[in-house]
Amino acid sequence: MKMTAETLPLPNGKTCVLRSAEPEDAARMIAYMKVMLGETPYLLRSPEEFDYTEEQEAEVLRRRRDDPRVLMILAELGGDIIAVSDIAPMGSKARTLHRAALGMSVRQAYWRQGIASAMMEHLIGHARQNGFEQLELEVVASNRRAVNLYLKYGFQVYGTRPHGMKYPDGSYADDYLMRRAL
Ligand SMILES: CC(C)(COP(=O)(O)OP(=O)(O)OC[C@H]1O[C@@H](n2cnc3c(N)ncnc32)[C@H](O)[C@@H]1OP(=O)(O)O)[C@@H](O)C(=O)NCCC(=O)NCCS
Repeated sequence: MKMTAETLPLPNGKTCVLRSAEPEDAARMIAYMKVMLGETPYLLRSPEEFDYTEEQEAEVLRRRRDDPRVLMILAELGGDIIAVSDIAPMGSKARTLHRAALGMSVRQAYWRQGIASAMMEHLIGHARQNGFEQLELEVVASNRRAVNLYLKYGFQVYGTRPHGMKYPDGSYADDYLMRRAL
């Protein structure tokens, strides 16, 4: 689904644009993912595991843009993507059509500028307008920034999954399962 582009002034004096992702963003999206995934240990993939070609990524972005229940928002500044978020149905079975999954990431240089908050407000509005009844996500329990962001927007922890992630050094991280009713 498409969202009308809007500007978001940042506390650092710059202004970014929030808009929906398009197939033409494929190359910049791949560049974003590879850098962003290297900046955090809290996401499922390592940078090496994001191995889409530009054609594959463009197809993913096209399908998402053309699906009325999916919204993928990016923040753009100076021609670069600096944040990405999305909301999508939890599968296609009739009995789960009321549930949506939410994802969120921001480039480290732009943390604490209110970008995640601005995207979150759009995603929640989109979810309500599209008949979703609850938002769901999984977050590493020690990911203080993200857990606080989700608590601020009304998510509640309904469970903990021990050892949700295992790192190359053999250590583990637990995940919180979070939900927000709409
Ligand atoms: C988590 C993340 C998306 C937050 O993005 P952001 O744009 O910096 O967030 P915002 O500036 O909009 O802040 C929103 C809220 O997040 C929380 N937060 C953000 N930074 C924080 C920090 N350093 N310490 C504690 N809470 C923090 C606060 O609740 C904040 O609200 P407040 O400013 O009213 O206190 C960002 O840090 C990120 O991309 N991290 C890496 C990827 C990731 O972990 N994604 C989530 C996977 S589940």
